[in-house]
Amino acid sequence: DWTMGAYREEAIAKIRAQVGDAKVICGLSGGVDSSVAAVLIHEAIGDQLTCVFVDHGLLRKGEAEEVVKMFRDNYNMPLIHADEQDLFLGELDGQSDPETKRKIIGKLFIDVFQKHAGEVGGAKFLAQGTLYPDVIESVSFSGGPSVTIKSHHNVGGLPEKMGLKLVEPLRELFKDEVRALGRELGLPASFIGRHPFPGPGLAIRCPGEITRPKLEILREADAVYIDQIRKHGLYDDIWQAFVAILPVRTVGVMGDGRTYDFACALRAVTSVDGMTADYYPFSHEFLGETATRIINEVPGINRVTYDITSKPPGTIEWE
Ligand code: XMP
Repeated sequence: DWTMGAYREEAIAKIRAQVGDAKVICGLSGGVDSSVAAVLIHEAIGDQLTCVFVDHGLLRKGEAEEVVKMFRDNYNMPLIHADEQDLFLGELDGQSDPETKRKIIGKLFIDVFQKHAGEVGGAKFLAQGTLYPDVIESVSFSGGPSVTIKSHHNVGGLPEKMGLKLVEPLRELFKDEVRALGRELGLPASFIGRHPFPGPGLAIRCPGEITRPKLEILREADAVYIDQIRKHGLYDDIWQAFVAILPVRTVGVMGDGRTYDFACALRAVTSVDGMTADYYPFSHEFLGETATRIINEVPGINRVTYDITSKPPGTIEWE
């Protein structure tokens, strides 16, 4: 791709000019954005870059292993796998307000990055895969005057107090452009095609209080749902799909017994850039089969609903 080839060269020159010979750490989430940012920055400055993959206990089933393996197998760059589950889940304990949860997570990310910046010999920069829609959505909604809808954990005035300067080489790009850049950089196709996954992870798919047992149920249900989507060949038609576990238990019958378990909502949307979205029109057969599988295979869930809200008025995530 000619355009992305030129963009790549320009971005590399800009990164070199910005960081000089300083060390940089890059927050790697396993999503396309931060992966593309990491590979691009690594091309620009080589071993001045260390990636930090933070396991905040809010990842999907098998995700930490998958991401770390993909980077260790394909790229020769220093990578720290930071297991911070107790820290994040401890601080989130008992919190149910969406913005409070996001702020706690944002602050802890900074703390963790700062700790590792010290460890790698005084990194001066923090790199992130912030995209253009992240930038505008944190500031205003539909062009209106500064109505904050969500504080994206990775956007905002945090770096001032943290003493690390930001490197955000994707700040002018939309998702489809980041994917084109990823192809240009030779990232594996399976990685480029991954659905977006938000920095705060499962926290914003678990409305109300976050508990370890709820997260475990959510992980299992999400894995079944994504497996269904893949088996039916729908993964690439969908922008993003996930399960949210609802903060409510409902009554059911299974076998000859009464159940009292959590309800969950399936979400799937189509979108071009995440700014607007339509719910995905699954067939009733698909929905019925998926509900049956989740209820049979995931202890703790006895009711499945499908979220048919588009964006706007809904957002893609539940918080
Ligand atoms: P919403 O829910 O605002 O999501 O319609 C739009 C897109 O952004 C993702 N998202 C985030 N990504 N940090 C991220 O890196 C965040 O705090 C965050 N919040 C939402 C969401 O998954 C969707 O793709």
